[in-house]
Amino acid sequence: MGQETPKVKQTRNNSLAVIDNRTGKQYSVPITHNSIPATFFKSIRAPAGPDGRPEDETERGLRVADRGFLNTAVIESAITYIDGERGILRYRGYPIEQLAENSTFLECAYLLIYGALPTRSQLSHFEREVLLHGIMHADATKFFGSFRYDAHPMAMLTSAFGYLGSYYEEANPSLQGQTLFTKCAKGDPEALQNMDKQIYRLIGKATTLAAMAYRVRQGREFVVPPTGMSYTESFLYQLDHLSPTDSFSASVSASSSPSPYKPHPVLARALDVLFILHADHEMNASSTTVLQTGSSLPDPYSAVAAGCASLYGPLHGGANEAVIRMLVAIGSPDNVPGFLAAVKRREKVLSGFGHRVYKTSDPRSFIIRKIANDVFAVTGPDPLLDTAMALHDAALKDDYFVSRKLAPNVDFWSGLIYRAMGFPMDFFPVLFVVPRVVGWVAHWRQMMLSPEGVKIWRPRQIYVGPSERSYVSFDEREAVQGPGKEPSAVVHSGMAKRRRLAEVGSLATGVKSKL
Ligand code: SDX
Repeated sequence: MGQETPKVKQTRNNSLAVIDNRTGKQYSVPITHNSIPATFFKSIRAPAGPDGRPEDETERGLRVADRGFLNTAVIESAITYIDGERGILRYRGYPIEQLAENSTFLECAYLLIYGALPTRSQLSHFEREVLLHGIMHADATKFFGSFRYDAHPMAMLTSAFGYLGSYYEEANPSLQGQTLFTKCAKGDPEALQNMDKQIYRLIGKATTLAAMAYRVRQGREFVVPPTGMSYTESFLYQLDHLSPTDSFSASVSASSSPSPYKPHPVLARALDVLFILHADHEMNASSTTVLQTGSSLPDPYSAVAAGCASLYGPLHGGANEAVIRMLVAIGSPDNVPGFLAAVKRREKVLSGFGHRVYKTSDPRSFIIRKIANDVFAVTGPDPLLDTAMALHDAALKDDYFVSRKLAPNVDFWSGLIYRAMGFPMDFFPVLFVVPRVVGWVAHWRQMMLSPEGVKIWRPRQIYVGPSERSYVSFDEREAVQGPGKEPSAVVHSGMAKRRRLAEVGSLATGVKSKL
């Protein structure tokens, strides 16, 4: 056979040709990984135009505007890949469907953090360390005891992560030096050990803190993490075990010795798979928040607390709670057309639908629907399911949603499962935070290990405010009034009202009122 002609490797000019029509200058912008460096545009300068403002800083180079990060890549990451058009989600290259079928949450945690599927001995070491670090300092009972019984568990959990960091000065770069974790990038063994210890603590104690927040709401004693159980079994145990000192269980133990509590295996496995699905999702709002915070090099507990606060919002992790509130408000399948009409009038939001990245389908939603069937087989179906199905089917056939590429996301179904499992609605976002701690620490670790070091994230702005103006005295000022343009008068009640009246009363004795 003749010598094969060597295939000529196709090359192409990976660059963008840009002409600045203000100056006629041409530029060639390099393209790598289908992206262009935003900083390149700083070199494209032009004299200020007739319609420009000094604050536009035209002579100092272009800025790239991207409100809401619709198309801005802030990091290079090897952790998670999402293809929103093809509905793909992979952790370190492994499809989420295969992990949900074959893996466990802690094995996926290992994969996301360290980049490879562990050997048996590596996994048992990791599991042992995480479970060992589930114990909380006894003072945590005072911390959680200081919340009102009806405090939102996400408010408790957000605070708890910041509080947790106060125990570990060895994890605080402000105390130990700013290279405390970034020196891991050079393979410093002590630094890597310190970093891993904080990771074990954050993952291990995430369930304990979440369970303590839950027990505050239930008015129950806190439960020490058990031994001999899996991560999710241990979590369910801490949520539901009635400890011998618990007043309720005392009456139970009077009649019979309380049997050692073991969570239902179907519920434990369902929660473990839900945790796998929620473990990471590349640059979602909360992971971005963790990295934004982490970029100034605080301790990882503070960065995680910031991520927890971000996930609390109804546009993000709070959506699973919002979905149930929406379904309860709709009430029955008959009311679905009226609700969707209100959504189209922008009077209401279809929670659990839409996604910044997934524009065809959220692959997690298909897996979650299967879990829902397994759970409902044990718990009994949720009456809201009929309304959810009617809403789901109607929206997917309605051009308003189809044209906007709005499909059900992970939150549309997860709330129904958590409700069927008996969790209160305001605990749903907590069930999102616990697994997402893994994604947060995986991205934080990747940032600390970046060979080029950590640069503080400090984005630019486009200033559209007033140009320079001089200070004027009270007499020369014109009042700027109207809603939102001046401090609102608030209606005082209770003690504040009486104190305000007392103040006015005392001022009534001739002293010029400041009111
Ligand atoms: C999660 O980022 C992640 O990866 C998040 C997450 C993760 O794992 O971390 O996947 C988890 O947060 C899932 C998303 C949960 N949130 C919700 O279900 C809340 C409801 N969804 C929307 O708020 C919204 O879809 C977002 C916030 C999820 C995405 O918003 P975008 O990308 O900014 O889209 P957009 O607001 O620009 O919407 C585009 C159009 C708009 O219509 P027009 O103004 O152009 O006419 O779609 C409309 C929006 O009004 N739209 C909706 C809608 N979502 C978008 N209309 C009705 N109901 C909705 N839910």
